[in-house]
Amino acid sequence: MEDLVARLREAKASAKLVGKAPAFQQVIECLPRIATSDVTALVTGETGTGKELVARSIHYLSPRAAMPFVPVNCGALPDTLLESELFGHERGAFTDAHASKCGLIALAEKGTLFLDEVESLSPKAQVTLLRVLQDKKYRAIGSTVERTVDVRVIAATNAPLEELIEEGTFRSDLYYRLKVLIIHMPPLRDRGRDILLLANHFLKKHIPQGRELLHLSDAAQSAMLAYDWPGNVRQLENTIVRAIHMCRAKTIDVQDLGIPAMLTNGRAQPTDEPVEYGSFREMKQKVVESFESDYLKQLMQEHQGNITRAATAAGKDRRDLGKMLKKYGIDPRSYAALLARLGLAKFSYDELFNTLENLMRTITF
Ligand SMILES: Nc1ncnc2c1ncn2[C@@H]1O[C@H](COP(=O)(O)OP(=O)(O)O)[C@@H](O)[C@H]1O
Ligand SMILES: [Mg+2]
Repeated sequence: MEDLVARLREAKASAKLVGKAPAFQQVIECLPRIATSDVTALVTGETGTGKELVARSIHYLSPRAAMPFVPVNCGALPDTLLESELFGHERGAFTDAHASKCGLIALAEKGTLFLDEVESLSPKAQVTLLRVLQDKKYRAIGSTVERTVDVRVIAATNAPLEELIEEGTFRSDLYYRLKVLIIHMPPLRDRGRDILLLANHFLKKHIPQGRELLHLSDAAQSAMLAYDWPGNVRQLENTIVRAIHMCRAKTIDVQDLGIPAMLTNGRAQPTDEPVEYGSFREMKQKVVESFESDYLKQLMQEHQGNITRAATAAGKDRRDLGKMLKKYGIDPRSYAALLARLGLAKFSYDELFNTLENLMRTITF
């Protein structure tokens, strides 16, 4: 039984990490050791490189796996709200605090707290976090009671923290506490043929049930290998999702990808597809729009149309996200999953998994 739970965990932790490039493999090979070490870790890398996925893998490979993994996007909320979300507050601590509320840090008890975009923490929140890391202690807003907490903190950033320290916006003592272990995620453009490996992985993952598997034409493959992928794996996944919907044949061709040849890094030969160039501005605008639209659709899919959760994950203001969805004519309601329609929207994948895992523990053979 324990073995089965362990295997389930392992499958969950590693199944989704696709890639063979040496720089990526180095990261993967360290994960089990990092997982058992229980020290604070900092994951760095551009947006979409898999920082959160790696943090989750560390958690699910660690002895804390049966306890919650709680992701917090520090850039998504204004200072005051973030602090009360993270540390909780007492009733009456501020005008809207009608009842006391437990913070995310308490929800992560005995589990892992994932602080994404950690560079956006306010100076005050930085001090509080430092205290948590040093003494495992914190106070809820408006509370005089000091609480002790047992969490592992994994932070992530795509900002140059050392520069921010020089500018005086990030505390150096917090930085040294966070970077006990540093994991750097290489950008996708430096992972060579992993681009195709990932593309095929996403083709299988996103093909609608009952539809025949699609393939990438040679020209599409060269275009993908030559492209810079500023949005990294997330952008690649969105590109594939879009291509699946655009493509009417069995083979995905360059035009189904929507990546402009002119923004490639020039390593591969241009394809023989005729490409119509507009001005740089027009082309850039098109790429940005296509990226935004794909990103939003993927985001809605991942969060089943829940704008609040999607906004938190994307690090955007809820209202701004709403406006963007409107701009691209995306209706969040159409992304509500079956579970949500059945009134079970509060179950995330993690919760379902944990429930299943707990259920399996209670079964005796
Ligand atoms: N190596 C990988 N294999 C499979 N999927 C990946 C890989 N890296 C990233 N992804 C997927 O790409 C998307 C972006 O990854 P994420 O961890 O959110 O990136 P980041 O936190 O760096 O912005 C997610 O959907 C994730 O599952
Ligand atoms: Mg992220």
